[in-house]
Amino acid sequence: MNHVETALFRASLISPKVQASLPKGYVLRPLQSGDYERGFLDVLKVLTEVGDHTKAQWLERFNYLKQHSHEYFTIVIVEEAKNKVVAAGSVIVERKFVHLNGLVGHIEDIAVDANQQGKKFGIKIIEALKYIGENTGCYKVILDCSEKNIPFYEKCGFSHKEYEMVWRP
Ligand code: ACO
Repeated sequence: MNHVETALFRASLISPKVQASLPKGYVLRPLQSGDYERGFLDVLKVLTEVGDHTKAQWLERFNYLKQHSHEYFTIVIVEEAKNKVVAAGSVIVERKFVHLNGLVGHIEDIAVDANQQGKKFGIKIIEALKYIGENTGCYKVILDCSEKNIPFYEKCGFSHKEYEMVWRP
C-alpha cells in the first residue's frame, strides 16, 4: 500500500530566511503524519512526560490539528541523513474580539533533542514561529517559560511581561 504523508499546514508559511540559514542536511518544515517514525515524540521528552502513543493515538491528535490548520502550526527541523526530527515547536493562533477581532500567537512546546542543544536550532525554531505569527496576522506572539529559559527567549527578541498562573483540576 502506498502511504502518502500529509503536512499539517501550507509550506508557504515556512520562513525562507530560516530555511536558508540551517546547516547543510537539515530541513525546516511543517509537522508531517510520518514524523511519528522520525522520533517527533521522543524530542518532546526534553519538556515533560509524553506518554507511549500508539500510531493510532498519534494520528488521532495529528488529524485533529490538521482539521484546524488555520490555528495549529507545529514545525520541525529534520536531519535528513538520519531521517530524524531534531527540534520542534508550535504556535497556536487565537481569535480574539479585542483589538477589533485581533489574533494572538501562543508559542508552545519548544524542544531541541538533548544531543543537539546549543547549535542554534532553538533560536531558528522561534524565528520560524515568529514568521508564522506575523504572516497569519498576529498583533503579538506570547509564551510562558521557566526562569532558566529567560535569557534564551531574550536572545530570541522577547521581553518580560506579566506572570503565568496555573490551576489543575
Ligand atoms: N540560558 C542562557 N542562554 C541560553 C539558554 C539558557 N538556558 N539556552 C540557550 N541560550 C542561548 C545560547 O547560548 C545562544 O546564545 P548565543 O546566540 O549568544 O550563542 C542562544 O540562546 C540560542 O541558543 P540555541 O543554540 O538556539 O538554543 P537551543 O538549540 O539549545 O534551544 C532550548 C534552547 C529550546 C531551551 C533547548 O535547550 C531545549 O530544548 N531545552 C529543553 C526544553 C525546554 O526548556 N524548552 C523550552 C520550554 S518553554 C516553551 O516551550 C514556550
